[in-house]
Amino acid sequence: MGFEEFQTARGTRDVLASEWWQFEAMRRLTLSWAARFGYDPIETPIFEKTPVFLRIGESTDIVQHESYRFIDAGGDDLTLRPEGTAAAARAYVQHGMQNASQPVRLCYFGPMFRRERPEAGRYRQHTQFGAELYGTASPLADAEVMLLATRVVDAAGLKNPDIRVNSIGCEVCRPRYREALMEFFGARKSTLCRDCQIRLTQNPLRLLDCKVDVDLKEEAPDLQDFWCDACRDHIERVMEIVAAGGQSIRRDRHLVRGLDYYTRTVFEVGHPSLGEQVALFGGGRYDGLTAELGGPSVPAVGFGMGIERLLSALPKPLLTPTPPRVYVAHLPGFDAEANQLALKLRDQNIAADCDVLGRSLKAQLKEASRRAKLALIVGGQEWSGNTVTVRDLGRGEQDLVALDEVAHYIKKRWQEDEA
Ligand code: HAM
Repeated sequence: MGFEEFQTARGTRDVLASEWWQFEAMRRLTLSWAARFGYDPIETPIFEKTPVFLRIGESTDIVQHESYRFIDAGGDDLTLRPEGTAAAARAYVQHGMQNASQPVRLCYFGPMFRRERPEAGRYRQHTQFGAELYGTASPLADAEVMLLATRVVDAAGLKNPDIRVNSIGCEVCRPRYREALMEFFGARKSTLCRDCQIRLTQNPLRLLDCKVDVDLKEEAPDLQDFWCDACRDHIERVMEIVAAGGQSIRRDRHLVRGLDYYTRTVFEVGHPSLGEQVALFGGGRYDGLTAELGGPSVPAVGFGMGIERLLSALPKPLLTPTPPRVYVAHLPGFDAEANQLALKLRDQNIAADCDVLGRSLKAQLKEASRRAKLALIVGGQEWSGNTVTVRDLGRGEQDLVALDEVAHYIKKRWQEDEA
C-alpha cells in the first residue's frame, strides 16, 4: 500500500491495463463516429490562461470552487482545463477558423479537471469526448450533435438513451423569464435552501436545478410561457429533427445546466445505472462565446460526454483487438534462440513472451499457462531439425511445427479459437 502521501490524489486514479484498453477502444469508437459525421479532431493544451475558462461563467460552481487555478513560477495565471468548449472556441478564434468555409466541426477526447466532491461517477480528473459545431444557428446543427452523441452511446452498447432537452431562451426572452423567476422565488425567499438564496441574486435560472427545493420549482413559472417566437420555433424544430432520426427526446422544463455560456438549447442524457444526478453527456447551444473570447460572433453548439461514466454503464466491455499471444519457452542453453524466435514472431504481429529470469522449463511452462494459450518449446533435437514443439496449454496436446511455418500455424490456431 505504501505511505498515504504517495498515493493518488483524492478523486483521481490509475488506469491499469485492461481498463486502459477499454479507454483506448472508446477513444477509437468515439473519434471514428465523429469522423463519419465530419468532425476533425483537435487537441488543446491541458492548461490555458485563466481568463479563457472564466468565460464559462463567474458565478458557476466550476469557476467559483472547482477550478485548479495556479500562478506559475513566471507569474502567469493558469487553469487546468475543466471542460473543452471554452478551449476549443479559443482555438477557433485564435486560428481564424471563422475565415474557413463554415460550418467548422471539431471534436476532442481527453482529460478535464474539476475539484468536485468525489463520489460514484464523479472524479477530479475525468475524460471527455466532445464535439463542437460552429458557424450556424440552424436547429439542424443542434440535432446533429445530439444524434452524434446518441449514436456513439448506442454503438458502445447502451441502447435507447433518452434525451432531455430544454430551451433557456435568448437575450430577447430570457430577461423577462429571469424577472418572473426572481419575483416568484423572491416572495418565498425565507423558505429557500441556502444555495438557492445565493442563486436568487447571482444566477436565478439555476434555482430550477435545485435538488432540495423540488416542490417549489414545480410551481415556478415555466420557461416555455416566456419563449419568443424564434426560440419556440427553434426548439420545436430541434425536437422534430432528432425524433425523425429515430431518437427519443423529451422536454425537461427544469433543465438549465451549470455553465453560463448557453443560449437556447440545452440537453442532457442520463442512464439508470448512473443515478439521477449523474449525466452521461450534456451540451447545448452557445452563440455568444466566440465573441466573449475576442473573436467574431459565431453561433455554435456541442456536447461533452463522460467516458468513465459511459464505460461504467456498459452492459459488457468493448471488444479490444488483440494479436495472437504465445509464450516461447526453452530447454537449458537455448535462451538466446528463444529470444530470437520471440522477436521474429513479434515482427509478424504475434505477441510473444519469453523467459528473462533463467527459469527451468517447468517454471516457464507454469508461467506460460498464466499468460498464453500456446507455448513454443525451443531446443533439443527438434531445434536441430528446424522445428519447434507447440503445446496447447489448455488441452495439453502438442504438435511439431517447421520453424518457417510456425507464425502461420499460430495465426490459424488463434482464428479457430476466436471463431
Ligand atoms: P458538463 O455537463 O459539465 O458539460 O460535462 C459533460 C460531461 O462530462 C458530463 O455529462 C459528464 O458525463 C462528464 N463529467 C463532468 N464532470 C465530471 C466529473 N467530475 N467526473 C466524471 N465525469 C464528469 C461540459 O463540460 C460542456 N463543455 C459540454 C458542452 C460542449 N457544451 C457545449 N459543448
